Amino acid sequence: MGRTLKFNIFRFNPEDPASVPHMDAYYLEETEAMTLFIALNRIREEQDPTLMFDFMCRAGICGSCAMMINGRPDLACHTKTKNLPGEITLMPMPVFKLIGDLSVDTGTWFRAMNEKVQSWIHTGKTFEPGDEEERMDDALAEEIYELERCIECGCCVAACGKANMVHENFMGATAFNRITRFMIDPRDERKNDEYFEVVGNEDGIFGCLGLLGCEDTCPKKIPLQDQLGMLRRKMGFSQVKHLFSALLSGKKSA
Ligand code: SF4
Ligand code: SF4
Ligand code: FES
Repeated sequence: MGRTLKFNIFRFNPEDPASVPHMDAYYLEETEAMTLFIALNRIREEQDPTLMFDFMCRAGICGSCAMMINGRPDLACHTKTKNLPGEITLMPMPVFKLIGDLSVDTGTWFRAMNEKVQSWIHTGKTFEPGDEEERMDDALAEEIYELERCIECGCCVAACGKANMVHENFMGATAFNRITRFMIDPRDERKNDEYFEVVGNEDGIFGCLGLLGCEDTCPKKIPLQDQLGMLRRKMGFSQVKHLFSALLSGKKSA
């Protein structure tokens, strides 16, 4: 006989003045290959139609189902109940605005982040629809693709101590990943200094505590710390270059 799972689920509707944050308990017979997506849908269909949570693709692609699962951010649609204990606590992700129960607004946060890092190819070239596509080295295209795999689920942000407790404008590892994606793209004509102006501050790489919560929780296994290391190295190199040129120009004018 399968297990009876107990779900402790956070409930709160910020739109309802009568609503107060609390936990509700639900019980469900575990079925084979049950995911949290299946469990939550069954709870909503069979026990409580008011329960709020988000799902779209059910396949780990859209990023909308991220939530805190026994204290750890992850995608509910790819989390199998057989890998969890019999008592499962589900909370909404912190940092993002709560819509209700397990549903949060990651879209506004990611839109602001993408605007801050100017997440698009900056080029002076005009687009000619009839032109042949620009060719790109296969290895470089792969490298860019690797960084494009972010599904904007928000798990790395929810796991980040800096974003959670210290600094509400902290960009987070997903922003560093975004910046390096454009830095390595030869079609983007921005200079390193222009990227560093955006990311070289306390909201950016200087604010990062380097404790790896982001990379540990990324469901797409994006090597987030490699991007952070790359940005820090390049930025350090560029600052040394500036220092030398300032020293040299000082010598010349002396
Ligand atoms: S390593 Fe930096 S970005 Fe990643 S979780 Fe820690 S503070 Fe946040
Ligand atoms: S970097 Fe990973 S954890 Fe962060 S938003 Fe993208 S896919 Fe989610
Ligand atoms: S529903 Fe799309 S990632 Fe889970």
